[in-house]
Amino acid sequence: MDKPKVVLGVSGGIAAYKACELLRRLTESGHDVRVVPTASALHFVGAATWSALSGKPVSTEVWDDVHEVPHVRIGQQADLVVVAPATADTLAKAAHGLADDLLTNTLLTARCPVVFAPAMHTEMWEHPATQENVATLRRRGAIVIEPAVGRLTGVDTGKGRLPEPAEIFEACRRVLARGVTETDLKGRHIVVSAGGTREPLDPVRFLGNRSSGKQGYALARTAAARGARVTLIAANTGMPDPAGVDVVQVGTAVQLREAVLKAAADADAVVMAAAVADFRPATYAAGKIKKKDGQDPEPIVLVRNPDILAEISTDRARPGQVIVGFAAETDDVLANGRRKLERKGCDLLVVNEVGERKTFGSEENEAVVLGADGSETPVPYGPKEALAETVWDLVARRLGAHV
Ligand SMILES: Cc1cc2nc3c(=O)[nH]c(=O)nc-3n(C[C@H](O)[C@H](O)[C@H](O)COP(=O)(O)O)c2cc1C
Repeated sequence: MDKPKVVLGVSGGIAAYKACELLRRLTESGHDVRVVPTASALHFVGAATWSALSGKPVSTEVWDDVHEVPHVRIGQQADLVVVAPATADTLAKAAHGLADDLLTNTLLTARCPVVFAPAMHTEMWEHPATQENVATLRRRGAIVIEPAVGRLTGVDTGKGRLPEPAEIFEACRRVLARGVTETDLKGRHIVVSAGGTREPLDPVRFLGNRSSGKQGYALARTAAARGARVTLIAANTGMPDPAGVDVVQVGTAVQLREAVLKAAADADAVVMAAAVADFRPATYAAGKIKKKDGQDPEPIVLVRNPDILAEISTDRARPGQVIVGFAAETDDVLANGRRKLERKGCDLLVVNEVGERKTFGSEENEAVVLGADGSETPVPYGPKEALAETVWDLVARRLGAHV
């Protein structure tokens, strides 16, 4: 099979160097990538880098290799065009149909999905001109990834940072696999919890679990791609924020409960993918607990943590709100899952078998989604994104039934 053809447009922002990592990820995962930088982009990263990393010629103008008509051919042949970083200037040109270099010509001739990953200072991003250009591009079907919040060019921070290359790559991979037409969660607010809580014993030690947060991040990323406004409540994940998602960082089960209840107040659906500790140490030692010569350690007394899934399922913040839980079981998986679904009162329960090398930290998952209506949806072994898409299919169907 031919490799999917991707055009990587790079415009003249300080984040142009991050496009090198995106290029690497695309080529290493079997894509045929042609880099089309703007002339400004070459002030930041030179043509030699793009050419060597892509194995293809690089030009910014329509006047090179004219016999091959590159200003038309590159766009026509592409399966995906991604512009990262997309400057305010390039967004404006694209929105207005200007075509004064190879990248803007390519954007006009492409009939494939187009993804823009804007990066600029907060003032430029928030300017009504940029916002209107972004709205125009989205109305025409382009995907414009929301910039991240964080450190900008200088010492300043704010919204406008390029999302991490890994996140842009995931967005591209998804668009190539599923197209851009899925917007069944548009207008919905979705809350996802991810990761594993840590219950402190003293300033240096905690009781934790092996959850990496990857399944929750896949859920957040795919919900955003399907048009939802997503709040991700992340417990100790240490991963870059998924593009276009509001992230709230928490540490303990009590903090996670507080953040979930707050975000759930106006949510259409809440998916509790985080592994929340059932118990926490009854006491917290303000100083590090020391070994005492000749003495056995003090036993750790545990108390119960709040059961967040049961609480939000019983006491729904909004009528028709869909609640999804996760059950990690080590044995008698389906029977335990069914009992848990009834006990908690949620609408859907994703049941998977866990073990030291299963599920936790891996890129793949296998599960059965149990419905309160008695349904069972098996999800075969595959990427965590695939399980996430199945969850959203089921959630969207339930939300559609309650409009
Ligand atoms: C150091 C430096 C950093 C810049 N960073 C950005 C940026 O992150 N985003 C942006 O929209 N423009 C940025 N600019 C301005 C653009 O380079 C300028 O608007 C240029 O005309 C963009 O051209 P292009 O869209 O054809 O690449 C930067 C300029 C300089 C000198």
